[in-house]
Amino acid sequence: MMAVPSKLLLADIAQNCSSIPSNFIRPISDRPNLHDVKTSDASIPLIDLQGLTGPGRSKLIKEIGAACLKDGFFQVKNHGIPEAVIDDMLCVSKEFFHLPESERLKKYSDDPMKTCRLSTSFNIKTEKVGSWRDYLRIHCYPLEDFVHEWPDSPPCFRQVVSEYCKSVRELALRVLEAISESLDLERDFMNKVLSSHAQHMAINYYPPCPQPELTYGLPGHKDPNVISLLIQDGVSGLQVLRDGKWVAINPEPYNLVLSNGKYKSVLHRAVVNSNSARISIPTFYCPSSDAVIKPPGSLVDQEHPSIYRSFTYAEYYEKFWDHGMNSESCLDMFKAT
Ligand code: OGA
Ligand code: NI
Repeated sequence: MMAVPSKLLLADIAQNCSSIPSNFIRPISDRPNLHDVKTSDASIPLIDLQGLTGPGRSKLIKEIGAACLKDGFFQVKNHGIPEAVIDDMLCVSKEFFHLPESERLKKYSDDPMKTCRLSTSFNIKTEKVGSWRDYLRIHCYPLEDFVHEWPDSPPCFRQVVSEYCKSVRELALRVLEAISESLDLERDFMNKVLSSHAQHMAINYYPPCPQPELTYGLPGHKDPNVISLLIQDGVSGLQVLRDGKWVAINPEPYNLVLSNGKYKSVLHRAVVNSNSARISIPTFYCPSSDAVIKPPGSLVDQEHPSIYRSFTYAEYYEKFWDHGMNSESCLDMFKAT
């Protein structure tokens, strides 16, 4: 009998397995302990961005600053992204992951430096244990540089995703202004330090998993960018570490979850479940490759020297893909000597 060729994408592996393949099983000391997770409650910060225009602005900026300082993430409503744009984005993503295997494989790559690729787990070239996820990762700013690389199936993919990317970028810029002000920096401080800016997006697809206690959709990590803006379908899975406890951030329709690395980058993870596939779509707003990462001059003096040497975002990004999910942070590699 001929050996069945092994499948590249998890969606096609997961389809007919009743237990998870051994390369997905985490050691006992590193499992999700799902019974030990708190469900989100009213204490999860929810920020109404309506107030950004008008007399309530400075109060809202304090609220955003407090959420960044204490939690490193918050949810937003009245964020200006039309509900139809979110619905269409989630819908076309679901359609994409339900395309025939041969169609999806056209975009497959295991090279993290590719600007448009469908891949699986995190980085199969460097990791020891797999994660229960397939993902399409694309670059989306400037749109005209990248849109031609994106999938052209489903036929409306490029148009729907472009609309979403434009809306989410406007939101990111407004929030970055608020964050700059909350740090007593000029309103356009973040805008300026990001050089010519970049925007990446993942569309994560987590198939149902027969043994969700043994594996992760994504293990605990910190995102390697300035701010992440996430939408999710109706299925739970996102968890953040808060006061030493994992807390589930259950989906609220049309709310976005934001996290950022300026104050404190929140440790978060995705878990899977045995009933439903799940889609989440994080946008990673980031500096362009040439941007130099260093603390603002106003925060450094003889008593508070730079902890890290300065580095370009390109250097940092490459290290993240080599080491990202294995360690707390790859920043250690940039410690000043
Ligand atoms: C990520 C991520 C969380 C989720 O893709 O970086 O943290 O809920 N995703 O899928
Ligand atoms: Ni993340």
